[in-house]
Amino acid sequence: MKLVKTIAEVREITAEWRKQGLTVGFVPTMGYLHEGHASLIEASSANNDKTVVSVFLNPMQFGANEDLASYPRDIERDQKVVEAAGGDLIFNPEPSEMYHEGFSSFVDMTVLTEELCGLSRPVHFRGVCTVVAKLFNIVKPDRAYFGKKDAQQLAVIRHMVDDLNMDIEIIGCPIIREENGLAKSSRNTYLSASEQEAALVLSRSIFMGEKMVNEGERDAEKIIAEMTQMISAEPLAKIDYVKIVDLGTMQQIQRIEKPALCAIAVYIGKTRLIDNFFIENV
Ligand code: PAF
Repeated sequence: MKLVKTIAEVREITAEWRKQGLTVGFVPTMGYLHEGHASLIEASSANNDKTVVSVFLNPMQFGANEDLASYPRDIERDQKVVEAAGGDLIFNPEPSEMYHEGFSSFVDMTVLTEELCGLSRPVHFRGVCTVVAKLFNIVKPDRAYFGKKDAQQLAVIRHMVDDLNMDIEIIGCPIIREENGLAKSSRNTYLSASEQEAALVLSRSIFMGEKMVNEGERDAEKIIAEMTQMISAEPLAKIDYVKIVDLGTMQQIQRIEKPALCAIAVYIGKTRLIDNFFIENV
């Protein structure tokens, strides 16, 4: 397993692989890898001859008051995770390698980015789309792997690939949870012991909402009201949103009659966490 810092090195290595007829899987990350990332790398290495993992904390997708400066980093630990999960190459560029002086081209999206995290984090998806488009152009993968925990991001990337005719298959992989239900996230490291306990309210409300749907409830407002009540009872939790949206458009719905997504964002102390469940068999 190799780590490179420049676009030229990634291009040289992946071009050689393609020349040999090898397929390339790609897992974009912002580092501080956990079992969720490892599951993406494992899925990629099971289905492709070679797997590239990018570790790049993308400043463009953070708003001015967000946690860019405090976001956890540990590239040595990341290398061990990538190696153990079967990755072949880490691309770990500096911001100056990705955004040269005078950089002024962006990939932006309407509709799908207007709700959920797009509403609370106005610059976020422009930063995500721009960096992912750049990474796709650098790595030129056959397939790219994204976690379903970032459900809106997955939908946005699928849409971008379709809109811009990028010849890449996008694979969504299941949410990986701690034994206690908490969805794995690099941001979980911010939580104190009491906040970790409080954060369990996210998955508890998700499981309750999912149970209501499985038992036949189709009124989105009823499900949202129950989930909101449960989360609001936790003193350390502050709701950003609890919403049910159409899976295709990410716009809010009243009744679940088509594939949908129930997504939540909740502050536990200062840490903003997200979780969700997909409603696919309606
Ligand atoms: O999901 C993430 O970690 C990031 O948004 C991504 C896709 C690596 C782009 O920076």
